[in-house]
Amino acid sequence: MERYLATLDHEQLLVRRGTRSGVFCVVAVHSTARGPALGGCRMWTYEDSRAAVRDALRLSRAMTFKSAVAGLPLGGGKGVIMLRGELSARARKDALRDFGDTVDALDGAYVTAEDVGTSARDMETIADQTKRVSGLSRKRGGSGDPSPYTALGVVTAIEVSCERVFGTPSLKGRSIAVVGLGHVGARIAKSLAKAGATLLVSDIDPGKKALADDLGAKWVTPEKALTAPVDVYAPCALGGILDHDSVPRLQCGVVAGAANNQLADDGIADLLNARSILWSPDFVANAGGIINIAVELDKGGYDPARAKRRVRGIGDTLKGIYDDAEGMGATPLTAAMERARRNLEQAGATMGRADAPEPVPVERY
Ligand SMILES: NC(=O)c1ccc[n+]([C@@H]2O[C@H](COP(=O)([O-])OP(=O)(O)OC[C@H]3O[C@@H](n4cnc5c(N)ncnc54)[C@H](O)[C@@H]3O)[C@@H](O)[C@H]2O)c1
Repeated sequence: MERYLATLDHEQLLVRRGTRSGVFCVVAVHSTARGPALGGCRMWTYEDSRAAVRDALRLSRAMTFKSAVAGLPLGGGKGVIMLRGELSARARKDALRDFGDTVDALDGAYVTAEDVGTSARDMETIADQTKRVSGLSRKRGGSGDPSPYTALGVVTAIEVSCERVFGTPSLKGRSIAVVGLGHVGARIAKSLAKAGATLLVSDIDPGKKALADDLGAKWVTPEKALTAPVDVYAPCALGGILDHDSVPRLQCGVVAGAANNQLADDGIADLLNARSILWSPDFVANAGGIINIAVELDKGGYDPARAKRRVRGIGDTLKGIYDDAEGMGATPLTAAMERARRNLEQAGATMGRADAPEPVPVERY
């Protein structure tokens, strides 16, 4: 806790006990330099209230960098509803309404969205209390499920990375291991199969094997996928997969996937570089979800075709980052963080010592 407070550089932190539910609702607004602070609402059980506040502070800061590197007119924020055990359906609704009041009290500085523990339906409950909600269903004028856009961005990142390493963005005949066949990974695997890639796929849920059969992909264990001799390894499950143990065992030229927080620590980016494995920074490759949401803020409202075009822009962003990294003799992680910092400075944010690279952008949107 102490270490974190040393890097406290947020604009606002609001902690309120809900009048209906009695649960604590936390909203951290890290930066509004580039626009309203957007970030999901996490409903989670924490060890104690300090852990919940710390999570909101850490994740809101990560959102600032994620949006800045994507060039979005958004700042970074995050919400937390701190659970204390199971809630009845009614108490859950009360907690969501209380959170809605907390969001509304910030008067537009923060806009919420779906995150771990909350759904698009929960956003509708929150929307009863505040209009500062994104990610509502298409029926309600929102941008709906972000997963297809996240998947599109990741496939674009894989193409750009392949072009850099193998000389062509074409995925025909490329061998690719996709680990995690959830909302995003399954879509990525389908697109890659359509593009003619040779697929290895994996998930801890054996129910996902049917998709492997449908796609004509080889079904392997996550461990086998990690060490398989493939062109691309695409982590699409949980974070922390790249560490001092796994990176020396990789046999791929590119790592590009949807999972947040892929590096166990920032030093892993150097390890990947030393092994000549091109790593597409996760918070660049998986920004399709938030880019899609940002389209909701356009004057004309949400438009899926515009969203697709912007998500494909991840390709140019990533090319620029790879160019910068080569020019600086640095890792893509360092180049991406530099780009985020530049974009923030252009927007007038004063970035202090606390903005030295730290475990970076993370979260779902
Ligand atoms: N959904 C989005 O739009 C979005 C946006 C940005 C980032 N992400 C990140 O992408 C990742 C996937 O998101 P999702 O929405 O598809 O999640 P999801 O929960 O729908 O899917 C995750 C899948 O990974 C599998 N899995 C879990 N642990 C595994 C392991 N150790 N090995 C192999 N498979 C494992 C699960 O069984 C599940 O099928 C997450 O890290 C998420 O934070 C998602």
